[in-house]
Amino acid sequence: MVTLAQNGQKTAFVTGASSGIGKAAALALAGAGYLVIGTSRKAAPREVRAGIRMIACDVTDDASVAEAVALAHAELGHIDLLINNAGFALSGAAEESSVEQVRSLFDTNFLGVVRVTNAVLPIMRAQGHGRILNIGSVLGLIPGPYGAYYSASKHAIEGYSESLDH
Ligand SMILES: NC(=O)c1ccc[n+]([C@@H]2O[C@H](COP(=O)([O-])OP(=O)(O)OC[C@H]3O[C@@H](n4cnc5c(N)ncnc54)[C@H](OP(=O)(O)O)[C@@H]3O)[C@@H](O)[C@H]2O)c1
Repeated sequence: MVTLAQNGQKTAFVTGASSGIGKAAALALAGAGYLVIGTSRKAAPREVRAGIRMIACDVTDDASVAEAVALAHAELGHIDLLINNAGFALSGAAEESSVEQVRSLFDTNFLGVVRVTNAVLPIMRAQGHGRILNIGSVLGLIPGPYGAYYSASKHAIEGYSESLDH
C-alpha cells in the first residue's frame, strides 16, 4: 500500500501504466522522486509492479474512474500531476471500420481523458494547483492514411486540451 506523500513530495496519477509510454512515464516520474500511482484494467488489489503502485481503472467506465481517482487521492494525499495516457490505435481504410469500433475507440481515447480529467479537476481546484498532461500523437496534428479514426480521436484531444488550458 502506498503511504501519503512525504512533505513536499510530488505525486502523479498515470492512466494505462501497465505497458508502453504509460509504464515508462510512471517509472521515470518515480525515478525523479514522485510518488506515483498507475492504472491498469487488470490490476489486482494492493498490486505493486516494478515499484509502481497499480490500481484498477477502466477509463470507459464512469464508476471505475471515480473509484480509482478517489483511491489514488486517498493514498497520495494530493494529486500534482495527471497523465492521461490510456489509449489504443485503430487502423484500416475509413469505410472498413464499423461505427461500433469507432465508438469504442473514442470511448477510450477521448472520453476516457474526459472522465479522468473530470474526476481529478475538482481535487486540483481544491488544492489550488495541478498539471494535466494528455498523451496525443503526431497523428493528432498531421493525419496520415489508414488512420482516420485514431487520428480523429487524437485531434479531439488536441482541441479539448487547448480549450481546457484556457
Ligand atoms: N506507441 C506509439 O507509437 C504511440 C505514438 C503516439 C501516441 N501514442 C499514445 O500513447 C498512449 C500509450 O500508447 P502505447 O503505445 O504505450 O500503448 P500500450 O503499450 O498498448 O499501452 C496502453 C495502455 O493503456 C491502457 N488501456 C487501454 N485501454 C484502457 C481502458 N479502457 N481503460 C484503462 N486503461 C486502458 C492499457 O492498460 P491495460 O490493458 O493494462 O488495462 C495500457 O497500460 C496512447 O494514448 C497512444 O495513443 C502511442
